[in-house]
Amino acid sequence: MLPFKARSLLLLLMAGMVQEEGSSSVTSSPLQFFSWMSLSPGFGSQYPWLGELKSEQRGLCLIHLLVACANHVAAGSVENANISLEHISHLASPDGDTMQRIAAYFTEALADRMLKAWPGLHKALNSTKISSVTEEILAQKLFFDLCPFLKLSYVITNQAIIEAMEGEKMVHIIDLNFFEPAQWINLLQTLSARPEGPPHLRITGIHERKEVLEQMALRLTDEAEKLDIPFQFNPIVSKLENLDVESLRVKTGEALAVSSVLQLHSLLAMDDEMPKRNSPTASKTQNSSHLQRVLQMNQRTLGEWLEKDSVHLYSPSPDSASVSTPLSLAASPKMGSFLNALWGLSPKLMVVTEQESNHNGSTLMERVMDALNFYAALFDCLESTLPRGSIGRQKVEKMLFGEEIKNIIACEGTERKERHEKLEKWILRLELAGFGRVPLSYHGILQAKRLLQNYGYDGYRIKEENGCLVICWQDRPLFSVSAWRFRRYD
Ligand SMILES: *[C@@H]1O[C@H](CO)[C@@H](O)[C@H](O)[C@H]1NC(C)=O
Ligand SMILES: *[C@@H]1O[C@H](CO)[C@@H](O)[C@H](O)[C@H]1NC(C)=O
Ligand SMILES: *[C@@H]1O[C@H](CO)[C@@H](O)[C@H](O)[C@H]1NC(C)=O
Ligand SMILES: *[C@@H]1O[C@H](CO)[C@@H](O)[C@H](O)[C@H]1NC(C)=O
Repeated sequence: MLPFKARSLLLLLMAGMVQEEGSSSVTSSPLQFFSWMSLSPGFGSQYPWLGELKSEQRGLCLIHLLVACANHVAAGSVENANISLEHISHLASPDGDTMQRIAAYFTEALADRMLKAWPGLHKALNSTKISSVTEEILAQKLFFDLCPFLKLSYVITNQAIIEAMEGEKMVHIIDLNFFEPAQWINLLQTLSARPEGPPHLRITGIHERKEVLEQMALRLTDEAEKLDIPFQFNPIVSKLENLDVESLRVKTGEALAVSSVLQLHSLLAMDDEMPKRNSPTASKTQNSSHLQRVLQMNQRTLGEWLEKDSVHLYSPSPDSASVSTPLSLAASPKMGSFLNALWGLSPKLMVVTEQESNHNGSTLMERVMDALNFYAALFDCLESTLPRGSIGRQKVEKMLFGEEIKNIIACEGTERKERHEKLEKWILRLELAGFGRVPLSYHGILQAKRLLQNYGYDGYRIKEENGCLVICWQDRPLFSVSAWRFRRYD
């Protein structure tokens, strides 16, 4: 079976090209099958052989049913959504093939969204759920272990840090989501082998759980002692959205690097409701005169940006219908003020890894289609490397991807944190905030490619795009890594 099946099916359907295709052909038109099926209530119980459908046929049916169901949910039609969900339930399964798994998580998310119209029901069904940061960390660790994406991001980030910090004697690194020691242990080892000798290293780790920071501090202090590197750890217990940039305690004379892995997009959620309700949390963490300064600055830089030839900054890829409205930092003040505060620390380097997808669409259908496309590729990655019964795989799918899908589809407003945006938008946003792009070096790309080879990861590619890197599964870009530095306005 083709390892990238789910996404191929999606592409096939989206291109409207449902047809015979070689030996693994779709024998009868799933479109016909689908229309017959949707007219037959309770078909699942009457036709038990449906369970025996060939994987491709079932996959095509599932995509049709999911899209139809999402349309019903978007239209607020409970009756029709109920019927669609009932149909899908006969075909979906969290331990089946990729499309069956994807369907299971998308239906859960769609049903969750419908149920929110009855807050009583929704809360009751959620009332015994334990929200556990430990589980989240476990899921992220499994994702790190089972897929190459985070490893690649760390390798590329560290190489950029090593290059930017060449010759520096005092190095300060800020990690916006500090939970994985592997990246920094690797950096300590590389720094200790530096020809000019290791620098004095300070790492500021940000995480909402004190225990996580304490554990990490122990690991890193141990390693630094072994390698005889002067090392200091600065823990900050905080959610990113509440982070007080003052508490980062950046000292003059330090060369500063910031690492953000899959974090920045969550700040977009804070902006969704701010203009509407003047939330107290917004003013609590922000000094209003600072905010004003930021807004003025943004207007200026936006004006500057508009004066320049804006076309070269941003050329949309053909498959993206995004960035139809001009982007301004003033439109997302929380993100804008956060980036400006980081800019104000004059970092020598900032490396940003983000999901390469557009999950911040304003309509539900846009988000469903984009999420189907993105997560089909991620589920395919796991299908290609792990058996269907793998517990680790199921945990990543349920606790990480499943939760993200649910957030993208079922949540609105500040609750909707998974607002992944594409590289072209991050480039605009960071340039507006005053950052200048740092091209990622050939050396970093080489190391990333070597990592893929050494671990025997097949089907992954690293592609250069505007001096940034995108990590692809087959032809589908899934994550972007870009590097930035403080740039003075002149
Ligand atoms: C939900 O759908 C099922 C299957 O089509 C149907 O039997 C049931 O009556 C529906 N429930 C409601 C409340 O409409
Ligand atoms: C569901 O329950 C968890 C854990 O109690 C809570 O954190 C979360 O906010 C709840 N979600 C909703 C939408 O009520
Ligand atoms: C994305 O997020 C920002 C900030 O919350 C919001 O202003 C914008 O409307 C969202 N949607 C799109 C399509 O950009
Ligand atoms: C706000 O910022 C201004 C200038 O940066 C400063 O003078 C003032 O003390 C700050 N106010 C608060 C409440 O932090």
